[in-house]
Amino acid sequence: MMDKIRIGIIVVSDSASRGARVSTTEQIISELLKPIGKVVEICTIQDEILAIQTSCIRLVDQQRLDLIITTGGTGLSPRDVTPEATKMILDKEIPGIAECMRQKTSEFTMQAYLSRATAGLRKQSLIINLPGSKKAVTECLEAILPLLPHALEVIQGQVNRCGG
Ligand code: MTE
Repeated sequence: MMDKIRIGIIVVSDSASRGARVSTTEQIISELLKPIGKVVEICTIQDEILAIQTSCIRLVDQQRLDLIITTGGTGLSPRDVTPEATKMILDKEIPGIAECMRQKTSEFTMQAYLSRATAGLRKQSLIINLPGSKKAVTECLEAILPLLPHALEVIQGQVNRCGG
């Protein structure tokens, strides 16, 4: 069933959206998510609340993707607004996903706790923020990967009991 999971990646980066920096984080994300599903859409946008919300809403409400990964804009600089934009369009937050990310990857760097990333559900789509650097993306996605198959099954109503 995981073959059918359709994934979208949103790269949130002022410099990448201007073409000033070639983003390769989406390749890392695609590679790590191969066991989960297929990346069918990648977009690169500015660090703007409206742009982030519009992209998320399009990928959920129109494309009906199962999993949307954002990367970047989760930090402390004035332009970092990805978590705020995401929270506004979620129906339900799932705090544990970002908690797991921060806690597990703090083994590599204490700065993991500086990412304000969030995750949650909009309709039947799971949206997850990741930080922006290649290192952070790899560490954080590897940390939460084991959670995803069951989460996606439950969201899609394929299982209604969590057997522990
Ligand atoms: N998490 C992990 N696992 N590894 C990292 O190297 N970098 C941190 C943090 N999370 C990091 C991490 C740093 S330095 C910042 S500023 C924040 O993520 C926010 O990054 P972003 O603004 O690119 O989203």
